[in-house]
Amino acid sequence: MAKVTSQFKCTECGWQSAKWVGRCGECQQWGTVIESGAEAVRPKTTAQTPIAGSAARPISSIDSEPMTHEPTGIGEFDRVLGGGIVPGAAILLSGEPGIGKSTLLLDIAAKISRGKRILYISAEESEGQVALRAKRTGNVTDNLFLASVADLAVALGHIDQSEPEMVILDSVQAITSPIIDAASGSPTQVREVAGTIVNLAKTRGIPVLLIGHVTKDGNLAGPRTLEHMVDVVLSFDGDRGTSLRFLRSVKNRFGPTDEIGCFEMTGDGIREIPDPSGLFLTRTGENVSGTCITMTLEGRRVIPVEIQALVSISHTPQPRRVVSGVDTARVAMLVAILERRLGMRLAERDIYVSTVGGIRVTEPAADLAICMAIASASKDKALPAEAVAIGEVALSGEVRVVPAAERRKAEATRLGFKVIADGTTRISEAIEAAGLGNKF
Ligand code: TYD
Ligand code: MG
Repeated sequence: MAKVTSQFKCTECGWQSAKWVGRCGECQQWGTVIESGAEAVRPKTTAQTPIAGSAARPISSIDSEPMTHEPTGIGEFDRVLGGGIVPGAAILLSGEPGIGKSTLLLDIAAKISRGKRILYISAEESEGQVALRAKRTGNVTDNLFLASVADLAVALGHIDQSEPEMVILDSVQAITSPIIDAASGSPTQVREVAGTIVNLAKTRGIPVLLIGHVTKDGNLAGPRTLEHMVDVVLSFDGDRGTSLRFLRSVKNRFGPTDEIGCFEMTGDGIREIPDPSGLFLTRTGENVSGTCITMTLEGRRVIPVEIQALVSISHTPQPRRVVSGVDTARVAMLVAILERRLGMRLAERDIYVSTVGGIRVTEPAADLAICMAIASASKDKALPAEAVAIGEVALSGEVRVVPAAERRKAEATRLGFKVIADGTTRISEAIEAAGLGNKF
């Protein structure tokens, strides 16, 4: 007689094991390994005739309901959502721990609660802690209800009792369903919690906002499937060392995904920045060498960013190449182009390149400005005042046109900047057109 052995399988990646383990040996997820024998005996799905009147119809004959975006009153948030919150929408706000998700949603909740009843369920902090933050940030209103629970069933009870017109859940990882036998934050738990809340949004027709923490590598702690379950996925990010935060839409069933919102964390709460154009520039008034402005694209927004460079004689066998806010490899490539195509002597020089204001600029459109800044620093000669350079630089030394070039130029002109070396096609011509000469 064949020996009966049970098989265990990971529901996430399909990894198999002869014995049960808490953590998948392949994808390293917790609580996803289940006995797969149970799966085998499950009956197969068979075809069923649709009930009368429910047959598939041509799309042209189906009435569509117009979508209503209800503005929240926070312009930057509405912009990212495509106009506001759609009733019944499930919105997931993801971001690293400590980036300011709770602060942002509490602020939004308080603003909306002037006309609506909002329930803020916090599974991470006590009511006292949330209330203290609300007081500190000026977000105390009578229509904002707080419940501090970590049990999904009790949270649902609160929703039944207080009948809110919008629910905020902070966070999907901290709340647990009592019917699932897995630790809080495990994929099975997160899926159950999110599924229940999304379902509630659909049946009650009220919007729900879920907070989800992401791990360092940018994944939602828990399964990616969470992103499929909700209508909108927003990501909140920024450099922890600075107060600037960006809100981006990663997925939006009701609007575009190319808008970004700008916020600033201050000592007394979060503040929106409707016009971020001056944030990444230094305005000392004097014309110094080694700086050049570029127009970067963040979502649909054009933002001027100043690139600074410093070139000095190196005292180490291996010259330093230190960058901040730009890509190290990209800068190394541009330095090589400047050396080979212009004959610039950079080999025994330490080179530092940085953006102003802690913003990260990784798009190739900043290439020309980086080259200009390095050339200007190397010659110790300042570029014309308010000079803006836009263009990608190829290895051949060719300056290429970048996406949305016209919009970038229009914004530069609107802000009173001067686009330099516009229309040049070689890096050598561009440097000369900027007034840096042709001898290095
Ligand atoms: P928080 O919203 O708790 O982050 P998350 O929910 O994403 O984990 O924000 C935490 C950080 O924000 C904390 O380090 C302090 C800072 N902060 C401010 O700068 N200003 C404020 O008004 C508040 C409430 C927090
Ligand atoms: Mg929080």
